[in-house]
Amino acid sequence: MTFIDIIRKKRDGFNLTKDEINYFINQIKTNNVVDYQVSALLMAIFFKGMTFEETANLTEAMVNSGTRVDFEDILTCDKHSTGGVGDKISIPLAPIVASCNIAVPMMSGRGLGHTGGTLDKLESIPGFNVNLTLDEFKSQIKELNLAMIGQTKEIAVADKYLYALRDATCTVESIPLITASIMSKKIAEGTKNLVIDLKVGKGAFMKNVQEAEELAEYLIKVGKLNGVKTTVILTDMDEPIGKMIGNSLEIIESIELLKGNIKNGDFYELTTYLSALMISKTLSIGFEEAKNKVLESICSKRALDKFKQLILKQNGNPKVLEDYSVFPNAKIKKDIYAKDIFGDFKTKYIKEIDAFQFGLFANSLGAGRNKKEDTIDHSAGIEIFIKIGDLINPNTKILTLFSNKEESIIEVTKKIKDAINLSDSKIIKNSKIIKTIDYDSIK
Ligand code: URA
Repeated sequence: MTFIDIIRKKRDGFNLTKDEINYFINQIKTNNVVDYQVSALLMAIFFKGMTFEETANLTEAMVNSGTRVDFEDILTCDKHSTGGVGDKISIPLAPIVASCNIAVPMMSGRGLGHTGGTLDKLESIPGFNVNLTLDEFKSQIKELNLAMIGQTKEIAVADKYLYALRDATCTVESIPLITASIMSKKIAEGTKNLVIDLKVGKGAFMKNVQEAEELAEYLIKVGKLNGVKTTVILTDMDEPIGKMIGNSLEIIESIELLKGNIKNGDFYELTTYLSALMISKTLSIGFEEAKNKVLESICSKRALDKFKQLILKQNGNPKVLEDYSVFPNAKIKKDIYAKDIFGDFKTKYIKEIDAFQFGLFANSLGAGRNKKEDTIDHSAGIEIFIKIGDLINPNTKILTLFSNKEESIIEVTKKIKDAINLSDSKIIKNSKIIKTIDYDSIK
């Protein structure tokens, strides 16, 4: 068998055998591949797809390309998001769930494309170390119920390489490749329960509900085969989540939620819903009882205290919790009013805030990477004062841009008009939660 045979077979639309998939992943593991051949195979998979059996075999091979952690009888639950804009939900959710006696062994990623990454956000806390060894990760879970780190070098080794290549070859949006990528990491990190926030819409990799449902079915079925009880929730990613986009800005917004200062809106709704779902599935209790536990953990500040313990344990500066000036600060802060963009009008409703464009704006202000090697400006980003459905007038402040690059501020300011749509008539605000797909509902 050669790599070329496998590329040709998939290119011509045939199914790959388990042996061929194992060969493909083994060649990556042993460093016996060249990027152009793997890229060609990824593109063939992107266009020709994979059956469920091929996808399950690919996931298994990717898990076996590294170590699989076993937390034995510790109750574990993790959450994964397929990637959004302003999606900082993991930051408050992990300490909330961990403070309810469930271990959260969270291995996260960095920003991908227009979406932000949990690791980049955490690193905006001065000193915060996301690079624990696997042994440190395991002992921190036993001690604190919580660790938030990057994928260690032993976990799903092949995914690390494939993830970077997919980002650079436009082969991210593929159901089998996303399934194998997410599930291989989650199976290998040792969680027994998993809630996946599957984003749908303009700012997401899945653009419509039908595609998202197909992906959800693959994720849940692969979880079942590997002893990971997986629940998928489809959520709307048409506008950025919450008010902040950008690394330190999103951590500040998360701290505000943990302090009990944010009590409504999409960020609050999604964080409390997903936390309650994790608790109800893991402890096998009703959703309302789980939701009460979440609210109590925020009210009593137990979740905030858990976050402080996490920061201390991973070498971050806990002063950030009291004093936001400890975060890196952008030199330029530019307020933008409705009249600066839309000129004169009486009143209008916000119809659309294009999450995809806003993700790109935040990146060009410095919050994300254009190339793998780029460094991130943790202070850069956007504060958004409007949400879909709001009524505005010309004097409404709609955004503040944060950056250290004057030219990026100018460039983004010019483009904002095309990313916000106004309407003369009232807009109905919908819940961001589209539907929850339970593991019991998928055979
Ligand atoms: N998140 C992942 O971990 N992998 C993907 O392929 C997409 C989102």
